[in-house]
Amino acid sequence: MSKAIFVLAAIMNGFVLSAKAQTSPPQEPFRWGAASAAYQVEGAFNADNKGRSIWDVYLDDDHLAGPGISGDVAINFYDREQYLKDIALLKKMGLNSYRFSISWPRIMPDGLGPANPAAIAHYRQFITDLKDAGIKPMLTLYHWDMPASLAAAGGWENRASIDWFQRYAEVVFANFADQVELFVLVNEPSIERDLKTAAEEKMAGGKGDLVLLPDLAHLAVSLKTYNHILLACAAAKKSFDARGYKGRLGLAVPLLPPLTVANASASDIAAAKFGDGVLNRWFLDAMFKGTYPADILAFAKERKLDTDIRPEDAATIHAAHFDFLGINYYAPAFFRHPKEARDPAAAEAFTPEGIDKAFNGAVRPDVFKALLDRIRIEYGNPTVYITENGAGFPGEDQLVDGTVHDVRRCRYIVQHVAAMQQAIAAGADVRGYHVWSSHDNLEWFSGYGSRFGLIYVDFDTQQRTPKQSAEVYGRLTRGENLSPDVCSK
Ligand code: GCO
Repeated sequence: MSKAIFVLAAIMNGFVLSAKAQTSPPQEPFRWGAASAAYQVEGAFNADNKGRSIWDVYLDDDHLAGPGISGDVAINFYDREQYLKDIALLKKMGLNSYRFSISWPRIMPDGLGPANPAAIAHYRQFITDLKDAGIKPMLTLYHWDMPASLAAAGGWENRASIDWFQRYAEVVFANFADQVELFVLVNEPSIERDLKTAAEEKMAGGKGDLVLLPDLAHLAVSLKTYNHILLACAAAKKSFDARGYKGRLGLAVPLLPPLTVANASASDIAAAKFGDGVLNRWFLDAMFKGTYPADILAFAKERKLDTDIRPEDAATIHAAHFDFLGINYYAPAFFRHPKEARDPAAAEAFTPEGIDKAFNGAVRPDVFKALLDRIRIEYGNPTVYITENGAGFPGEDQLVDGTVHDVRRCRYIVQHVAAMQQAIAAGADVRGYHVWSSHDNLEWFSGYGSRFGLIYVDFDTQQRTPKQSAEVYGRLTRGENLSPDVCSK
């Protein structure tokens, strides 16, 4: 394959390096953490009167991850005896922050009804145990496990979801605001929507691969659900503020810096600008500028897309004044105009051959630094927490003689922490970094085959083994400056 040189297409509107360093020192110790999500780790699918989630339906009923693959057991993280051992491993790694999600259908089994005392008690105990170990919680209210009953009523496609989520959030705040300072309201609206599209395709007998940029047939429903989710977060923030709770709220947005290949055509570059508009600027502009991107709105209007977006929606989202931006960064997205497309404006994301890539795309710490510079320069240097950054590589995680030499993940983490620190030195207000993930876990429709953890999990025995990346990350959390070469076979 030709050694194509990839250029960072200058498609970030008016992206200009600024010499102006900004110094807004963080007001708390930097949070060194790791992350997980309820459905991917908890198991205990019916404990404590838990209601069913859409993912219980996808995997248990529809078998969309393959026969027998589900979150019924996962890595048994709901079990206190188990998670206390896990907390000890996190503490040994030197973490002072842990991002986890709570399960909406545990808290409110039918999605709208009264709070479930057993679930409240479980999560309060978990948070107490975390804090007793010197680890601060970062609580994600929603990481895709929507109550099945609400999913059946249209889920995020139904504008009523704004109220559904606000009610849920009010129950969460009433029960956890005394324990938790950082709340991530929703995780990755766009990726969740992509997975729903994939599920629909799988149910129709198709492959159901994850498509990062919605195609023209799914663009309307995608923009509609993004808008409803952002409005739901704004409504939750408004309730939080009205009740005078202490604490800070944000969202975890999967930012995908747009790239094109070296010999990109004008239509490829236009596709990248479009992809950047739908996947990045859509969220950032609404949250920090109070408008949706004009180019995307114009595109939707030209094609008479039914997005259910009202003129005041973006301003309502901006008026919430979210306290931080959670960034989930894995890789850039390469965009192109599909050769066979009839529509001149068609665009698709792809991963070129012949590059250094992980499960979630190209390994590009330089692009991570450029992204953080962009947020600082183009969006007023908001407070940022890296809510997810990590990698998995096919076949890397082999447990041999009690150790796992996950060299590529180890190198990835060292390189991306260095890139983040360069951005902080340039003035970015980044206040925490969470590796995805603390543990190998259930990777959605990919099942248990795609490992992302710092800690290896034997899914048959639930035995945990910290990997080389855990040991090296522990040195980073304690302040060592390391070269990727410390990661070795
Ligand atoms: C996401 C989700 C995680 C994934 C992780 C690895 O970002 O898609 O937040 O649940 O497991 O990113 O793909």
